[in-house]
Amino acid sequence: MNLPKLPLGVPLMDRDHAVLEQMFSTLPETKDANLLPLFEAIAQEICDHFSREEIMMEQAQVPILSCHKAQHAALLREVETMRAYLATAEAKVQRHQIGFVLTHLVANHVGGVDQVTSTFLTNRSSAGAPESDSASQPACMAS
Ligand SMILES: [Fe+2]
Repeated sequence: MNLPKLPLGVPLMDRDHAVLEQMFSTLPETKDANLLPLFEAIAQEICDHFSREEIMMEQAQVPILSCHKAQHAALLREVETMRAYLATAEAKVQRHQIGFVLTHLVANHVGGVDQVTSTFLTNRSSAGAPESDSASQPACMAS
């Protein structure tokens, strides 16, 4: 498994975060005409990841679950706002929104509430409780 820049020690999180980083890493080579499809692919992956993470947190009864879910909802609202903005933006603006704004939104989420959650999950796991890595498939962001 490829590790993300900030490994959290929770396989589902680390695997999904590495996938997102890999997707963002394709931005420099992405042609202007393919920026919106890249954005849509990343947006879908973020949504699917959040759903998987929420199922895992519910199963583990993470204490900050409601806060974490609210953070997911807020970030998904930003993605929706960005989608509308990008639809009419020129390529250099699209590139900046994906490569800087969205990248930082995700990185701040990972370094914030994901890291707090991972501390709970790894402490719980080391105390003997099994950690789930097999959240069921989400139904998310149908468009
Ligand atoms: Fe999260």
